[in-house]
Amino acid sequence: MSSLGRRGFLKGGAAALGGGLLASTSTGSVASAAGSSEIKVEDWNQSLGDPVVYNAYGVPSEFEAHVQRRNVEWLTVTQESSVSFTPLHELDGFTTPNGLCFERHHGGVAQIDPGAHRLMINGLVEKPLIFTMEDLMRFPRTNRFAFLECAANSGMEWRGAQLNGCQFTHGMIHCVQYTGVSLRTLLNEAGLKTNAKWLMPEGADSAGMNRSIPMEKALDDCIVAFKMNGEALRPEQGYPLRLVVPGWEGNMWVKWLRRIEVGDQPWHTREESSKYTDLMEDGSARRFTWIMDAKSVITNPSPQAPLKTKGHNILSGLAWSGRGKVKRVDVTLDGGKNWQQAELAGPVLDKCLTRFYLPFNWNGNPMLVQSRCIDETGYVQPTKDELRKVRGLNSIYHNNGIQTWHVRENGEAENVEIS
Ligand code: MTE
Ligand code: CO
Repeated sequence: MSSLGRRGFLKGGAAALGGGLLASTSTGSVASAAGSSEIKVEDWNQSLGDPVVYNAYGVPSEFEAHVQRRNVEWLTVTQESSVSFTPLHELDGFTTPNGLCFERHHGGVAQIDPGAHRLMINGLVEKPLIFTMEDLMRFPRTNRFAFLECAANSGMEWRGAQLNGCQFTHGMIHCVQYTGVSLRTLLNEAGLKTNAKWLMPEGADSAGMNRSIPMEKALDDCIVAFKMNGEALRPEQGYPLRLVVPGWEGNMWVKWLRRIEVGDQPWHTREESSKYTDLMEDGSARRFTWIMDAKSVITNPSPQAPLKTKGHNILSGLAWSGRGKVKRVDVTLDGGKNWQQAELAGPVLDKCLTRFYLPFNWNGNPMLVQSRCIDETGYVQPTKDELRKVRGLNSIYHNNGIQTWHVRENGEAENVEIS
């Protein structure tokens, strides 16, 4: 389109847009968001824009610079064994952009040359094998979306409301599409011995992360993945290879995967004894609690995403279950007195984040907003009190209690606990 033609188009568009503005002013939202309904010729209208390939690997607009993974510096002693959080309140739909996926490393990010990387399968197999990345690319492939949630997500919130923002209370989660080879295919290639009952995946990072995985899960839906959202895994997500363990706690999704040992019993590694277990009131510990139970959070409004305008608004959030699909999400605006069913804005996929919306009218009164996820097995997300009745006060991991945001008269929201 010539620049003249484009201007003509914009003029027509402005008239149409003006109509739109008038129409939506009655809801109060668009007029105040735009500041003014005046249409003017802007700088970017008057000269040529940047050429193609000015960014050979595209990056977001500079006006989105506030959309970032963030960490909480005092949370960990070092920044190599640490965590950054997904900005859930800035996203929509159910997938997470690769550059915003939260990170959890125990020994920093390993920068691995794929040409030098190997995956070994050893132990109780007929034929121990070592694969190059090229070898792996020649196996039949599989694709699937899955959420990954760290077992420590919401861990700070066990004893009461702590961190102010869903990025920090719930942001140790992401959901992307993985491409790779089914673990079953690779294990069949090596040939399992009859007493092969457990696996121990191991990472090539300085932490040498390792966990025990029962054979049933390994043969069910695990993937040895090399791509996320269509492109190579990012270094922080385990480039060039990671294990995908749908629905199970993030710690088992070994990144920088270099070895899978097959055995007849679990290894009782550090990450499944000292860590990622739940200390009960009687001093015993729950162990091997792999599945991430149904959970949800309202991402908007929330402390980092206050309400700006009275009248018509869209409440939005995410729900998920490690046991399958989300069946229903209930939302309350008055601290649990009345519940309404939210719209599941599909697709609703197995062991994936699911987006929900609830349009509502805000009259400027304070609100206590909560969401509650029910999954396809009928499991209902518990309140924090219900959870503490069963698990006591010592837990860190596996907190799937209902989150409350207190929205004040000025639209700002804060993390509170009421049940
Ligand atoms: N794998 C290795 N090799 N090293 C690690 O530190 N961290 C685990 C898991 N896999 C880890 C690892 C933990 S605790 C989680 S929650 C997930 O990776 C985080 O994955 P992400 O960084 O892609 O979000
Ligand atoms: Co984790």
